[in-house]
Order: sequence, then C-alpha cells, then structure tokens
Amino acid sequence: MTDKIAVVTGASTGLGYQLARFAAEDGYSLIICADEEKIHEAADKLRRLGAEVEPMVVDLATRHGVDSFWQAIADREIDLFFANAGRALGEAFHDQDWAAIKRRIDLNLLQTTSLLHRVGRKMHARGSGRILVTGSIGGFVPGPYDAVYNATKAYLDSFCYALQDEWKDGPVTLTCLMPGPTETEVFDRPENDLADAPIAESQKDDPVEVARAGYDAMMRGERGVVPGVTSKILTMLAGVVPQSILARVHRAGAKPE
Ligand SMILES: NC(=O)c1ccc[n+]([C@@H]2O[C@H](COP(=O)([O-])OP(=O)(O)OC[C@H]3O[C@@H](n4cnc5c(N)ncnc54)[C@H](OP(=O)(O)O)[C@@H]3O)[C@@H](O)[C@H]2O)c1
Repeated sequence: MTDKIAVVTGASTGLGYQLARFAAEDGYSLIICADEEKIHEAADKLRRLGAEVEPMVVDLATRHGVDSFWQAIADREIDLFFANAGRALGEAFHDQDWAAIKRRIDLNLLQTTSLLHRVGRKMHARGSGRILVTGSIGGFVPGPYDAVYNATKAYLDSFCYALQDEWKDGPVTLTCLMPGPTETEVFDRPENDLADAPIAESQKDDPVEVARAGYDAMMRGERGVVPGVTSKILTMLAGVVPQSILARVHRAGAKPE
C-alpha cells in the first residue's frame, strides 16, 4: 500500500464506486467494502487504474460487521474516509417489514455513527484526516413512502453539521454530500422497494457528477455540498416551505403506482 490510504464503505456500485475511483486516480491506496461479493469486481476495475485495493465483504448493518471492518483498518493511517454505505426502503411504513426497517436504521444511522466515532477519534489523535459522509437532500424533506429512509438521512445531515461545528478549529474536516435523486443501482435493488415509485422512472442526476462534487468539496474541506440546480433549489425552499407541503411534494415522486 502507498502512504496515502482512502477507505470507502459501500464501494461496489453507485456513488461509492465513483468516490473510490476518484481517490484511486489521485494516487490513494484503497480499502473498500460492501455487503456482497460484487465488491471484488469493483476492486478488479479499480486495480486496473493502478491502485492497490483491499476489498472486504462485511455487513455494516451489524455490530459484528463494523467490528471486523474496524479490525482491518484500525492500525492503518487513514487519510480519507468515505461513510457512504446506505440503503433505501420504499412503500408505505405500515406495509414494510420490521426487519427491513431496522436494518436501514442500523446501517444508515447506528453503525455509521459507530464508524464515524472510531474514525473521528483516530484522525484527531493523529492530527489529520478528511471525512465525507453521504447524507441526502431527503434529510431536508419528510418522506412519505420513504419515511424511515428520509428520517435516517435527516439524522445524518444534522449530525454532520453538528460535528463540523465541534471540529471547526481542529485538524479533521468533515463534509456532507447531500445528493438528490441520482441514477444508481439504488432504484433497481428489489430489497429497496423503489421500483414502483414514479421517481424510479424520472430523470435523475449523473452519479459521476454527484460523486465528483462530493469528492472535490471534501478535498477543499467544505462543510456540505448539494449537487445539481434542482436539488439546491429544493433545499433552499425546505427552509421556508411548511413540512406538510414538502411531504406532499415528496409523496408525488415516492407513492408506488
Ligand atoms: N442514488 C440516490 O438517489 C441517492 C440520493 C441521496 C443519497 N444517496 C445515498 O448514497 C449512498 C450510496 O447509494 P447509491 O445511490 O450509490 O446506491 P447503491 O448503488 O445501491 O450503493 C449502495 C452501496 O452500499 C453498500 N451496502 C448496502 N448495504 C450494506 C451493508 N449492510 N453493509 C455494507 N455495505 C452495504 C452496497 O453494497 P452491497 O450491494 O454489497 O450491499 C453498495 O456498495 C447511500 O448512502 C444512499 O443513501 C443516494
């Protein structure tokens, strides 16, 4: 491994893969993980860019998975950490399976917080490091038919802004990437239950551009980035429009047809 190490969670597909690619192109060695074996295909593609890559299959929705991942990275000098792994969950709340709801909370919120606690401590002890968290503009908007998912992202967005204030005079930067709907595998995964939502068929942002905006903002040490004009307008409106109206707007794109 080279001197510079980037760790990316959820790097097998979508935004995480693109974030890993940008780090590889910048000369970082990579430690990447995902829940399924497909992470090895991503590792092979990233190696073709000349990067050293250590892929791991770990379930970051569980304490056990986070502990094993941490064991593999705890002794390394981590320069960049991308807390990106996350899963959506469509359909009406009362129709969702409790085990699926709990897994979203565990992955998006509980275990991501646990990882950030460990990484944040480690980087502060070392005196340097950059962190990018993939939040969402969904965190600004109540999400009928994505209620739990949006709530987990509201937690993450808020958590990031709080940590940025705590860490503002310190050696560690934390950037929150808050994408709007982006063309990734998230809409195709059957377990996410998004296939029947109108948003699945509508035009979405380009994952390369979204990840690029996040990566560049992280490297500049910025607090947050909302890629895309429509998403920027939505987040501005979210500060003034009543929650009930925001919920109605979200419902239009999320209620299964
Ligand atoms: N696409 C959008 O519209 C959008 C908008 C706002 C925010 N986001 C956020 O962006 C992040 C990346 O999502 P994406 O759109 O790129 O979707 P994606 O292509 O489905 O990628 C999700 C990644 O997370 C991994 N992952 C899921 N569950 C995991 C688990 N239990 N343990 C370890 N890894 C796990 C997946 O790997 P496996 O397949 O191996 O499980 C995959 O690598 C997520 O946090 C998502 O909430 C996406």
